[in-house]
Amino acid sequence: MSLRLAVEHFKRMEEDDWKVLYHLSRFIYSFMHVSEEVLTKATGLEAKRLDYRLRRLHEFGFVGRSRRGYTLLTAGLDALALRTLVGKGLISGMGREIGVGKEADVYAAVDDEGNRRALKLYRIGRISFRDTRRKRAYSSPLIQHQWLVVNIRAAGREWKALKKVHPLGALVPKPYGRSRHALVLELIDGALLCEVKELDDPKGVLMDVLESLRIAYSAGLINGDLSEFNVLYDGERAWIIDWPQAVRVDHPNAEELLRRDLSNILRYFRKVGLDYPLEKALEYVRSV
Ligand SMILES: Nc1ncnc2c1ncn2[C@@H]1O[C@H](COP(=O)(O)OP(=O)(O)O)[C@@H](O)[C@H]1O
Ligand SMILES: [Mg+2]
Repeated sequence: MSLRLAVEHFKRMEEDDWKVLYHLSRFIYSFMHVSEEVLTKATGLEAKRLDYRLRRLHEFGFVGRSRRGYTLLTAGLDALALRTLVGKGLISGMGREIGVGKEADVYAAVDDEGNRRALKLYRIGRISFRDTRRKRAYSSPLIQHQWLVVNIRAAGREWKALKKVHPLGALVPKPYGRSRHALVLELIDGALLCEVKELDDPKGVLMDVLESLRIAYSAGLINGDLSEFNVLYDGERAWIIDWPQAVRVDHPNAEELLRRDLSNILRYFRKVGLDYPLEKALEYVRSV
């Protein structure tokens, strides 16, 4: 929804619109509402011109407005992130939505050179369309605003984890770029393991997963949210996606989380006919 708004209005944005939107975003960590006075100072625009820009941004759905001031909305954050990624040549066209998860929307995209990419936008706290009773409360500008920071932090955590484990050879999407709550990732053409009911070589697929977990572990990280819902299988290799909740191996719950990750994934493999012992999997992941 908000990405559609961001893309639709992107081309209508003028330099001063971006300036106001950018300055508004600088305050998300400190204030929920930003007054015109503060924005005048920050942008250097005189009141009348600022007012004009704010009206446009409000009309685009990028900014919320109340008596207490102005608030950046999700679509505004999307627009800012897109602009940065477009500016870096990491995104030059958007494709269809390829995944809606618990915490993010993922779209197919292409970069400047025509390479296909996945654009992942964090959406923690978003309203579900089915959940109409809570819809009003969640979609209010104030509540949207509180989640912006949460989403930016989650993207930052996933970015850090992927930057750490991808270069070591783990089968995870290559991270190309990040802006705010958005990540540009290698696009994996595959199906989630939860949708794959039969595997020709379950042992080979499991070993891919264990090997990636072993590499992550050797880099000091445990995935922390592993299950058949976060593994993409491309017909040959298995890729572990979705790393924002990765924890360090010295985290007090690290061992428990590793056991849970492994139990989850081994339960899936039992369903496809491979019974692999938990202790053996643990030993493999912890071996250097
Ligand atoms: N790199 C990728 N390539 C292809 N599809 C992806 C990629 N990353 C995510 N997806 C798709 O988007 C969905 C949601 O992404 P995910 O990273 O799991 O976020 P969430 O936290 O919302 O579960 C996934 O289930 C998958 O279908
Ligand atoms: Mg997921």
